[in-house]
Amino acid sequence: MTFLAPAVRFLLDYHRRPRTNLRLLLTRFLEKYRGRDKQALTRTIYGVTRKEIVLEHVIGLFLKKKDRPPPLPTLILLKISVFLLLFSESYPEYAVVNEAVNAAARKEKAFVNAVLRQMLRRRAEVKERLAASTDPALKYSLAPLLLAALQRIGAAADSDLEYLDREPLFHLRFHSGRMTMEQAQLALEACAIPCRALPRLGCFETATVGRFLDQAGHLDEFYLQNSGSQAVALVAASRAGKKVCDVAAAPGGKTLTLACLRPDLKILASDIHPLRLRLLEQNVRRLRLGNVSSFAADVLRYPAIGRPPDLLILDAPCTSCGTLRKNPDLKSRIDRRRVLENARQQRLMLDSLAARFSGSRLLYSVCSFLPEESEEVVEKIAAGRKLRPADLKPMLQKLGFRVRQGEFGFYLLPSELNNDLFYISLLEPIEPGNRSRRTAHGVRPEKAPNSNFQNQR
Ligand SMILES: C[S@@+](CC[C@H](N)C(=O)[O-])C[C@H]1O[C@@H](n2cnc3c(N)ncnc32)[C@H](O)[C@@H]1O
Repeated sequence: MTFLAPAVRFLLDYHRRPRTNLRLLLTRFLEKYRGRDKQALTRTIYGVTRKEIVLEHVIGLFLKKKDRPPPLPTLILLKISVFLLLFSESYPEYAVVNEAVNAAARKEKAFVNAVLRQMLRRRAEVKERLAASTDPALKYSLAPLLLAALQRIGAAADSDLEYLDREPLFHLRFHSGRMTMEQAQLALEACAIPCRALPRLGCFETATVGRFLDQAGHLDEFYLQNSGSQAVALVAASRAGKKVCDVAAAPGGKTLTLACLRPDLKILASDIHPLRLRLLEQNVRRLRLGNVSSFAADVLRYPAIGRPPDLLILDAPCTSCGTLRKNPDLKSRIDRRRVLENARQQRLMLDSLAARFSGSRLLYSVCSFLPEESEEVVEKIAAGRKLRPADLKPMLQKLGFRVRQGEFGFYLLPSELNNDLFYISLLEPIEPGNRSRRTAHGVRPEKAPNSNFQNQR
């Protein structure tokens, strides 16, 4: 067991950068590791971040001075050790304790030893208490802010919370203009990538993403895209006329799917970050897509583009809380301030598009289930700019998604498709002379708390 000290170093660095994405930081950090060490570090770091809240709770049980937590490096070391002792069967307990004491700062060694030995003595009791806990925030190690939002959209049943706590599965799409599902399946089998076909979406699901990435050179027609993200592109493909602007397009998943499915479309893909846009451009070249033009642009200062598009896609930057399986650090990292900052930016972006392209349809999406980033954004803009939501429910359900209908859009809930949680709203201009308060779902109801969702299992 030699990975404890590097795991502490990594998590310390990560904790000191509250805005950094765990996956990106970890990928860079792991470059110098190979084989077993790399696997152990990956499993441990993701495991600890997935269980952050419950680990803090357990450590708290063994602190004498509850209001004086140990220094951050010691706290992180304890979290890793408690994680290994409670949630991993991979290492003997004496090895965990010895290694933790070795890795602790000299003046913290006795303290670390005492906490871990007490924890070991009461391990069975701690496990029982956690299993019997009726507090879902503790049981699933989920921040109360996120739990409350899941409750609001009817996705806080044990099965939903357990789903969000699982390790992610990955979806592989391919250029559907160049190969059939059968040919794609044969190509994946030839590279020994075990997968499940999802024919309604036209993609495959795999747990062994590493193998796909290792073989990517042999699978040029394929790219990774979660099934939830595909839903946005599939909606766009079904509703677009001739010209589409994807205005926050990088790294490009939705643009790629749209371009593969609709080679007849003219797609203008832009993003404020030129570097992220390069990823999109690389994929466009690799998949030999001739119908995508890309350029860097700020949505808030969108350049002149000639004839307006009939559809704009705004896949807005958000907290990404819908991707908790892939980004388990977000379970404890999203705070109210960040949510409100995002919501303000999302409103500005959507409003500037609605003002500038008043005759176009607007497809708004976020990989978030927080009302502040979803319904509340769309509600404000739709009312002010005379837009009404289209009914996407039949299409989304036909694709196999479990959908919760809001007043202005649709939440993709946990489902058999192993999708990230998404919010999707398609806004259409209300034709002149048809400015009633009718929505695509019928007459808009008077507002009542929590009455604007209908469960669609
Ligand atoms: C959720 S990501 C988009 C993901 C992309 N649609 C896909 O499917 O791969 C949001 C994107 O918005 C971009 N962004 C943030 N602020 C922007 C702005 N003011 N104008 C244009 N793009 C912006 C970010 O750089 C980021 O790439």
